[in-house]
Amino acid sequence: MSNSLDRKKEAWSARFSEPVSELVKRYTASVDFDQRLAQADIRASLAHAQMLSEQGIISSADFDAIVEGMAKIKAEIDRHEFVWSVDLEDVHLNIERRLTLLIGDAGKRLHTARSRNDQVATDIRLWLRDVIDSQYELLQQLQQALVGQACAHTNTVMPGFTHLQVAQPVSFAHHLLAYVEMFSRDAERLIDLRRRVNRLPLGAAALAGTSFPIDRKRVAALLAFDGLCENSLDAVSDRDFAIEYCAAASLIAVHLSRLSEELVLWMSPNIGFIDLPDRFCTGSSIMPQKKNPDVPELARGKTGRVVGHLMGLLMLMKAQPLAYNKDNQEDKEPLFDTADTISDSLLIFIDLVAGIVVKAERMREAAGRGYATATDLADYLVRKGMPFRDAHEAVALAVREADREGIDLGALPLSRLRQCSNLIDEDVFEVLSLEGSLAARNHPGGTAPDAVLAALARHRERLGIR
Ligand code: ARG
Repeated sequence: MSNSLDRKKEAWSARFSEPVSELVKRYTASVDFDQRLAQADIRASLAHAQMLSEQGIISSADFDAIVEGMAKIKAEIDRHEFVWSVDLEDVHLNIERRLTLLIGDAGKRLHTARSRNDQVATDIRLWLRDVIDSQYELLQQLQQALVGQACAHTNTVMPGFTHLQVAQPVSFAHHLLAYVEMFSRDAERLIDLRRRVNRLPLGAAALAGTSFPIDRKRVAALLAFDGLCENSLDAVSDRDFAIEYCAAASLIAVHLSRLSEELVLWMSPNIGFIDLPDRFCTGSSIMPQKKNPDVPELARGKTGRVVGHLMGLLMLMKAQPLAYNKDNQEDKEPLFDTADTISDSLLIFIDLVAGIVVKAERMREAAGRGYATATDLADYLVRKGMPFRDAHEAVALAVREADREGIDLGALPLSRLRQCSNLIDEDVFEVLSLEGSLAARNHPGGTAPDAVLAALARHRERLGIR
């Protein structure tokens, strides 16, 4: 099972008079983390070998042996029996050396017309493509969970905030649908950048292409790439596709952090708009009364590492001369950690959002404090002919009145309201109600129950919810 036979002999050893030190070996090796690319590496190698054999560059017997050997290696890896060796530096050399041990010279022919430079670029793209597809699916599920919650709350009134001050009433459904919009754009971004991830670097070889009569389009088709990386120097060196993914991931993390922050605030006993199921919370080791929203807090915190990885990759790429440089080996850990963090966060939020327990009466009560319908009163006066700036002044007077009494605008008697403007009549109380305020904003994008129902119908259709 071990590949120790050849372990002493590096792939380039003939050129060197002394081996690298243990420290340098550890410093330069990537196998501890890039073994995650093993499945992609095998897939890409099989496509490359098939093309080599179809082009007559290797024999079909060699190709058959490679297929057989790779199947064994894949099984060893799946069963966690494959022995990874730091002496063999990275995932590519580990697999190739094992293949050669298993099938002899045919294994050594696999590397014809390619280099680890185009090989690793291909592997990362294949791996990332799967991540993108699975995270697109998770984003759809998260939107479905948000829409599911929203469906029950088109008439649940809460205060909408600006500057975290009560501003105007909105429905809880409308609030949740704001996040649906954000996550739908995040999903769109993944689809868009997938087109640029899904190009084939193989054939670029080390940097300049290869002298063998390869068929790159055939390899692209075998691996379901949308097209080729059109310049060999660019193909092996740039990692902009990974940076783009990390930028999209950063926006996902930022959107999750906004939602997290609101969940934390809403769950604070001082606000008390929601409760979260116990499975997302922990207690305190000293304060028996505590139930802390750990999951949203952690999600908020993890935004830092995701955005940090984006910065790291940008700096990794900055000022790298053409073509491949070993710097690029540093692309993997941030990329892997970004993908893992986003997948875990999305998975947990799908469950978390569905589990939100809404305290509608607390939301309503909060919307009734803070003069949330003041704008409605100003709009009312405008409809009666008063210029908006004057109406703004008149309502400010009314708010002062109400504030003095410690009551909401709608609780002021008509006579007091008329002191601010004699344009005010009995019909004002409908306008000053929370329901009246919501219903008045009945246009696409507005918070009126009818407008929100229309938005919900659109999202349900788009997300395939029956
Ligand atoms: N482990 C390397 C990486 O991740 C593979 C490519 C190495 N190529 C080279 N010429 N040293 O980038």
